[in-house]
Amino acid sequence: MDVMELFFVWLGAAVVVFYVIKIVSFVKMFYSGVLFLQPASFFTSMGEWAGQTTGQKVKVIVADFTEDDEYEQIQEELKGLNIGVLVNNVGILPSHIPSKFLQIRNLTQRITEVINCNVKALVKMSQIVLPGMEKRGKGVIVNISSGVACVPSPMYTMYCASKVFVERFSQGLQAEYKEKGIVIQTVAPFGVSTPMTGYLKPNLVTMTAEDFVRTSLKYLKAGDKTYGSICHTIMGWILQSVPLQIIHSERMQDCLREYVNKRVGS
Ligand SMILES: NC(=O)c1ccc[n+]([C@@H]2O[C@H](COP(=O)([O-])OP(=O)(O)OC[C@H]3O[C@@H](n4cnc5c(N)ncnc54)[C@H](OP(=O)(O)O)[C@@H]3O)[C@@H](O)[C@H]2O)c1
Repeated sequence: MDVMELFFVWLGAAVVVFYVIKIVSFVKMFYSGVLFLQPASFFTSMGEWAGQTTGQKVKVIVADFTEDDEYEQIQEELKGLNIGVLVNNVGILPSHIPSKFLQIRNLTQRITEVINCNVKALVKMSQIVLPGMEKRGKGVIVNISSGVACVPSPMYTMYCASKVFVERFSQGLQAEYKEKGIVIQTVAPFGVSTPMTGYLKPNLVTMTAEDFVRTSLKYLKAGDKTYGSICHTIMGWILQSVPLQIIHSERMQDCLREYVNKRVGS
């Protein structure tokens, strides 16, 4: 066998292994109940503080994450509390209508707000909460990214780039703190019916917030990144297989803007 032949044999084998791993991890999603089973007490075992519907103790701290200087106050308010679960959910779009970078209204202000909300908040909240988790040897951090971040998405450029930051930060942090018993995961949804999406009517792709949360939590132990549902996983695959020339074409960008414009206007 000459060198070229050997190269192609190895290349072929690598491609097969790559797709086998992808298919196996996809098939595993159908068996999440068995493979990633968590005891009913999993979340409550993390700490005694939580959201209103759980019957745990609740403390509300008001903060505006578009601002720079909220963290001293948050840290002060959280002093002495065992925070077992941190969900970095805050996220904003630079503009509700998909826009090219320079077309975003109040661009200078929006740059600061998007970076503060989508990037800085996650890093600072991790800095505040992680030391306690490390000390106790347990904890969960869920960082909300977005499905659109799986490819460079024009018209959502700044938003998409901020969500790539979320994913990389989260995945690196998980590698650093896995051994300490801390689960850190990025969840990257596509459509969820919320104020951000103008309460899109739920359908096969767009889920209600309640359904998405319920479904995505089943995959908490499924690795450092999940799309949170089988349907959104398939969408991620489809989007990644569309040639970028199509996604990046002017025609496609116009169509996207027209589509969202019409939807928001209706
Ligand atoms: N909806 C989707 O289809 C979709 C898809 C992919 C990713 N995501 C991501 O999912 C996350 C949640 O989005 P969503 O759809 O629920 O959006 P949303 O309806 O606009 O809610 C955003 C959340 O962020 C909070 N928030 C917004 N601005 C804030 C600020 N300046 N300071 C403090 N909190 C602020 C809101 O708090 P209040 O309720 O107090 O205003 C709310 O809890 C975001 O990170 C978003 O990027 C959403």
